[in-house]
Amino acid sequence: MGARPQFIKLAPLAPVLAGRFNHLILHTGQHYDREMSEVFFKQLHIPKANRNLNIGGGGHGAMTGAMLAAIEKYLLQTRPDFVLIYGDTNSTLAGAVAAAKLSVPVGHVEAGMRSFVKDMPEEINRRLSDHASDLLFCPTAAAVKNLKAEGIKKNLIRSGDLMFELLHRRRATIKKNNRPLKKHGLQPGQYLFMTVHRAANVDCRDNLEKLLAIIEQAPLPILLPLHPRTRARLGRFRLLKRLERCDRVVLERPMSYLDTLTAAACAQAVLTDSGGLQKEALFLGTPVLTLRDETEWVETLHQGNRLVGLDPDKILRSLRRLPKVPRISYRINGKAPSTIITSSIDRYLSGK
Ligand code: UD1
Repeated sequence: MGARPQFIKLAPLAPVLAGRFNHLILHTGQHYDREMSEVFFKQLHIPKANRNLNIGGGGHGAMTGAMLAAIEKYLLQTRPDFVLIYGDTNSTLAGAVAAAKLSVPVGHVEAGMRSFVKDMPEEINRRLSDHASDLLFCPTAAAVKNLKAEGIKKNLIRSGDLMFELLHRRRATIKKNNRPLKKHGLQPGQYLFMTVHRAANVDCRDNLEKLLAIIEQAPLPILLPLHPRTRARLGRFRLLKRLERCDRVVLERPMSYLDTLTAAACAQAVLTDSGGLQKEALFLGTPVLTLRDETEWVETLHQGNRLVGLDPDKILRSLRRLPKVPRISYRINGKAPSTIITSSIDRYLSGK
């Protein structure tokens, strides 16, 4: 793994895996800034990676290709019995292909998620990774259905969601933390929390201008930590100054796990294009307006998530009538996702 959302999924699983197997962690280096990587390892007590390949930045082909070659080399040196990949980033795809080509069995955490938007980079990564995998750990019932529809019928495991497991464990610390609100003088329930980083939203000027229009018309202050990709694109299109001038917005650098989740828990609503934060906010009881026209997490549409795209009218209307958020459980048939995943790998390797 190598990107921020993958560290979050690894955190609750790493200790359980290490209790059963000799567990090695390979960091591709896709995310490399301290606040995009190291902070997560420290705060979530993730053991230091056994190797960091330091492959970050560049185009999709260059990045994925360099990772593929380097992961293959690492697998040849360490000869693992099993490789686990997470989510849908370029690191996921490179790991899947490298392991499958060496006939090392692969387990995919967060298998079966689909947006059905074929040119979305993550959708390509998901589809290819799933089809190269041997064990498919599906967080939702919809994910199981998606895989069956693509002809993958064996070793589908309804594992639940590791992000929820971590949140369940961290809920008290998240509630106690007052750092992000205190720092910016924000009151609980009196601000919006926004994150945006998807290529489709930030790589074109028109969509960035729509985002600025949304921020400028917001009825409440907006706390907005800027992902490096978003900051770079705003700079390139000469829109960063306009955003900085907007008195509605409180700009932040990328925030730690704890501060992000506290900011989400205390906000009146979360506006995001992140798959992870969509679910995390709902788990903490905060309604979500998703800045996309579709979501892989279709269950969330009955749990307080609204798809609003980049349409300011839709957003303002939704903010006036925010959906209710039900309680969400992290267990599947009474079991934690980390336990389900670890025992499934164990059974698979012992041929049961
Ligand atoms: C990647 C994933 C996306 C995931 C997101 C989480 C892919 C295709 N996309 O998107 O699915 O939701 O991570 O954040 O894998 N950069 C920095 N510092 C960093 C990391 C990145 O400056 O620590 C820069 C990179 O050099 C690059 C840009 O940000 O120019 C984008 O990074 P990249 O890893 O390509 O994609 P993300 O947008 O982060």
